[in-house]
Amino acid sequence: MKTQRFTGYELEKAAQLLRIGELVAFPTETVYGLGANAMDSAAVDKIFVAKGRPADNPLIVHLACSTDVSKVAREVPILARELMQRFWPGPLTLVLPKQKDVPNQVTAGLDTVAVRVPNHFVALELIRFAGVPIAAPSANRSGRPSATTWQAVAEDLEDRIAGIVCGPPTCLGLESTVVDMTSTPPRVLRPGGLSIEEMHSLVPGIQPYFAHPELSRESLVNSPGLKHRHYQPRASVMVIDADTLKQSDFVLKSKSRRSHYIGLKHPGNSQAFQAVLVCKNAEEYASRVFDFFRQADLLKADVVYCECVPEVGIGVALMDRLRRASHS
Ligand code: TXA
Ligand code: MG
Repeated sequence: MKTQRFTGYELEKAAQLLRIGELVAFPTETVYGLGANAMDSAAVDKIFVAKGRPADNPLIVHLACSTDVSKVAREVPILARELMQRFWPGPLTLVLPKQKDVPNQVTAGLDTVAVRVPNHFVALELIRFAGVPIAAPSANRSGRPSATTWQAVAEDLEDRIAGIVCGPPTCLGLESTVVDMTSTPPRVLRPGGLSIEEMHSLVPGIQPYFAHPELSRESLVNSPGLKHRHYQPRASVMVIDADTLKQSDFVLKSKSRRSHYIGLKHPGNSQAFQAVLVCKNAEEYASRVFDFFRQADLLKADVVYCECVPEVGIGVALMDRLRRASHS
C-alpha cells in the first residue's frame, strides 16, 4: 500500500480514508497518533497489524469534543466531568466504563475505555471531518520511540498505512497522562504531559503513579500496555546522574563507543560523544528525547546516555520513559 501524504489543508481527504476503514497518522499536541474509526472493528484490527502491537494493549479513543464522550463511555463520574472541563482539550486520558458499541479490540477486552480530546487544531478538524470517534495509539512500530515528527511516522509505517497528515513536530513530545476514573480515588496509570501537581487542586486524593520497576502486579493487569517493551532505540539507553558524568572512567567509556548524550547539564567533555544535546529545561528535554533516540539510530550509535532529572512536573513522565527505554 502506498502511503499518501496530506497537508493540514487536505483533512477532508484524510478523513475520507478514516471513514472507509483505513489508517491515517496525524499530529496531536503529545505525539503523532495512528488513527482508525474506533467503532469499526476491522479498521481497529489494522492498527495492531501495522504497528505489530500486542492485542492485549488497549487503545485511546480520541474525540473532537467532550460532549461526544457518551458515544464511548456508559457512565461519566462527576470528578471525571470536572477534569474534562478543566483539562480538555489536553494531554489527559480518562479511563471510564465502556459503552457496549465500542469494539472489544479497542479496549483489549476490558470493560473500560480510555478517552481524550487532543489539544491540536489538525487533530480536532480531522476527527470532526471523520464524524466518528478515532482510536489512536502512538504512530510508531510497537516498542520503538514514539513518533514526534511525520518523518518518524514514515520511518516506521511507510507503506503499512493509508495516509500521514504531515504537520510540524509535536509540542509536548511525551504521551498523555492516563488516569483510571473507575477506581476510588482515581489513579494515575501512566504519567504524561499533564502533571499530577496540576490535577491535585481538583482531585487532592489522586493516587500517584508508582514508578517502574516497582510496578505492582495489579497495575500491570489494569493497564496492560505497561508490561510491554517500550520506547527503545536500537542503541542501548543508559540513565546517568551528574556525579557519574564527572567520573573519569565514564569519559573513557563513552570515548571507546559511539556514544550520544542528552541532558540538562553540559557533559563537559563533548569530544567524547558523537552527538550532544543540552536542553534548557525538562520540558525541552521531554519534547526532544524521542527524536534524539531516532537520530542516534540513524547515526548507528551504540549507546545513548541520558541525564536523569528531578521527578517533579513533566520530570515524572520523562524519567518513566527513560527508565523503560533503558530496560532490555
Ligand atoms: O498522547 C497520547 O496518549 C498518544 C496520542 C496519540 O494521543 N497516544 C498514546 O497511545 O500514547 P498508546 O496506545 O501508545 O498508549 C495508550 C496507553 C497504554 O499504556 C494503554 O495500556 C493505556 O493507554 N490504556 C488504553 N486503554 C486503557 C484502558 N481501558 N484501561 C487502562 N489503560 C488503558
Ligand atoms: Mg505508544
